[in-house]
Amino acid sequence: MRSSLELKERRTWRWLLCLAGGSVAAAAEPTFYAARVAPVLDRHCVVCHGPEKKKAGLRLDSFDHLMAGAESGSIVKPGDVKGSELHRRITLPATDEEVMPSDGKPSLSADEIKIIALWIEAGASPTKSLADFPTAPALRPARVAPVPLAPSWREKAAEIAALEKKFGVKLVPRSQVPTDGLVLRSASAPQRCNDQVLAGLAPVARFIVDAELARTPVTDAGLKALGSWENLRAIDLTRTKVTSAGLAALSGLKHLEVINLTDTAVDDAGVTTLRALPGLKRAWLFGSKATVTQYPVATAP
Ligand code: HEC
Repeated sequence: MRSSLELKERRTWRWLLCLAGGSVAAAAEPTFYAARVAPVLDRHCVVCHGPEKKKAGLRLDSFDHLMAGAESGSIVKPGDVKGSELHRRITLPATDEEVMPSDGKPSLSADEIKIIALWIEAGASPTKSLADFPTAPALRPARVAPVPLAPSWREKAAEIAALEKKFGVKLVPRSQVPTDGLVLRSASAPQRCNDQVLAGLAPVARFIVDAELARTPVTDAGLKALGSWENLRAIDLTRTKVTSAGLAALSGLKHLEVINLTDTAVDDAGVTTLRALPGLKRAWLFGSKATVTQYPVATAP
C-alpha cells in the first residue's frame, strides 16, 4: 500500500515534470552509461578496479574514474573502439595473460562486449540515453550462483540408497540442486532411527544438512555421531532422551542454524553450549529443564 505522502510526492514530481517540459523528462530517462555500461563493469571488473583494490591504478566504479584511466594513461578513446585499451583487454583470447577480467574469471559475453563497443563508438558519452542506442543488446540478469550447503551427493546416490534401505530411514534431497544437501527423515518410523543408525550414516554424513530426529530413540551417544556431520544446518531432537551433557558434542557444528530441543531434559548448561555455536539463529526449549524456552531470548531472529 502506498502512503499518502508517497502519492503526494509522486504528484508533485509529475507537476514539476510538466513545468520544466522536456529537459527534466530527458534527465529522468536513464543514461546508456548507467543502464548498460556501468552494470557490466560492476559485474566483472570492480572487485579488482574499485574503491578497495585499484589494480594498475585503475578504478571502474564511476564514469569519472573510468575516464581518468590507469597509471599508464587513458583506457577509453571516445569514438575509437579498436584504439581503446578497455576494448582490447576484454576481447583478447581467454589464454592471453593480459585478458580482463584476469585470474581465470569468466570472460564477458558477446552482448556485454557489444555494449562497451557501441558506447565507445558513439563517443563514450556520460549523458546519451538508452534510446540513443536502439541496436544495443539488453543485459541478462546476472546469474547468481547458489551458495553450496554441502558437496554434491550425486556421485554417491547408490551408496545413499543402500544406506536408506539398510537402516530404514529416508535421505531426501533438499531441492533439485545437489549441493543443497539431504534431509534425514525418520518420521515414518522414528523408532528405527537410533544411535547405531546415526553412526552408520557416517559415510554420507557430509551431505546431510537437516536431521529430523523427533521422537526417535536417539541419546547423547547419537549426538557424538551428529557432532561430526559438518554441514548440518538444522536438527530436530524434540522428545528424545538427549541431555545437556550430550549437546557438548555439537560444539563444532559451525553451520548449525536451528535446533529443536522441545520436551527434552536439556537444562541451562545446554543453553550455554548453544550460545557458543557461531551460526545458531534459533533454538526451541519448550518443555525442557532450561529456564528459557527460546534462544535467542530477546532479540529477533
Ligand atoms: C581479478 C582481478 C581483476 C579483474 C576482475 C579485472 N582486472 Fe583489470 N587488471 C588487473 C590487474 C592485476 C591488472 C594489472 C596487470 C595488467 O595490466 O594486466 C589489470 C589491468 C587492467 C587494465 C590495464 C590498465 C593499464 O595499465 O592500462 C585494464 C584496461 C583493465 N585491467 C581492465 C579491466 C576490465 C575492463 C575488467 C572487467 C571486464 C577488469 N580489468 C577486471 C586485475 C583485474
